[in-house]
Amino acid sequence: MNSICYIAGLGTSVPHTTLSNFDFEKIMDTSDEWIVTRTGIKNRHVLAKEQNVSDIAYEASIKAIQDAKIDKSEITHILVATCSPQNLSPSVACLIAEKLGMSSVSGLQTISPKNPSLVCFDFNAACSGFIYGLELARAFLMLHRNATILLVTAEGLSRRLNYQDRTTSILFGDAAGAVILRDHGDYLYSVLDVSIGADGDYKDLIRIGGGTEWQAKVGDRIDDTFFLSMQGREVFKHAVRGMTQESFKLLERNHLAISDIDLFIAHQANMRIIEAVGERLGIAKDNVFTNLEKYGNTSASSILLAMDEAREKGILKKGNKTLLTAFGAGLTWGSALLS
Ligand code: UT7
Repeated sequence: MNSICYIAGLGTSVPHTTLSNFDFEKIMDTSDEWIVTRTGIKNRHVLAKEQNVSDIAYEASIKAIQDAKIDKSEITHILVATCSPQNLSPSVACLIAEKLGMSSVSGLQTISPKNPSLVCFDFNAACSGFIYGLELARAFLMLHRNATILLVTAEGLSRRLNYQDRTTSILFGDAAGAVILRDHGDYLYSVLDVSIGADGDYKDLIRIGGGTEWQAKVGDRIDDTFFLSMQGREVFKHAVRGMTQESFKLLERNHLAISDIDLFIAHQANMRIIEAVGERLGIAKDNVFTNLEKYGNTSASSILLAMDEAREKGILKKGNKTLLTAFGAGLTWGSALLS
């Protein structure tokens, strides 16, 4: 199978500050036992006061650039998947460009017919952001052969968690991931195919405030609509259905059986959801990789955190068939096939 999109480098970053289940026991009516049994999560990393998502996004980007052995001047696009951006504007993508010092190589002062300008923007597909980003990158690579895309996932959901709500606050952590995507050159993994979907009828199942719906005046107190809210049980049901069906669709379209899949990495939201999807797909338990116990649900970054660790452990291998799948607010979902 030929590809138009290759992963040339990969990097991730998590903040140093951690919050364990035992830390939650001290601030709310919960227990390590409840959290582990219902979710599989033991720990998460959260932004320190002086940190923001662009800091961890920059660190992940640098690692991906070094891993791909490219020079930053080769980057033509910075695409950032986030549902917890640093500001409504400017985009995290522009903040990364500034931190990388891209201005001197492809900024306003360098516009010329010979020099490609840098493209930077954020997009929001919530927890499905990485899979959506792969599809976006494929589209850009078809339009612009020789493009070098820095696709970043940057999430700081701890800043939008209501720590008085035990049903949501224990679930999420902060993290960033980055990949360099090209249609040429040395690579780690080939992106064989991607399939994505969305259904706005389920818009109320997961919400994060802070946009224009929140009609605040200077001096107003923040109320709970500012924070993340979720109807967990409903999301659980749809997540299992969405990830299973989209994965089957992708496999069928590529004339593959589940027995052809060497490794399965799902969005790291909840161990029970991953097990349920794995069972419905009929994938062997040994071929399912998870690391959510260490990081919790890091939204768009969770698949990259898992890929990075699986690669380090020699489990994610070039040439082997890897199935990725994700599900998130919107509702959105998607699956991707790597080799
Ligand atoms: O990235 C995609 C977005 N999100 C997800 O993937 C999350 C999907 N949903 C889930 O993972 C699960 O629905 C949760 C983990 C959020 C909740 O698990 P559940 O098995 O669906 O529990 P529940 O919401 O039905 O609650 C069961 C009980 C309730 O008590 P009562 O009413 O039975 O007395 C809750 O109040 O568990 C209680 N509960 C807790 N107890 C201790 C809820 N949260 C906690 C908690 N500690 N942190």
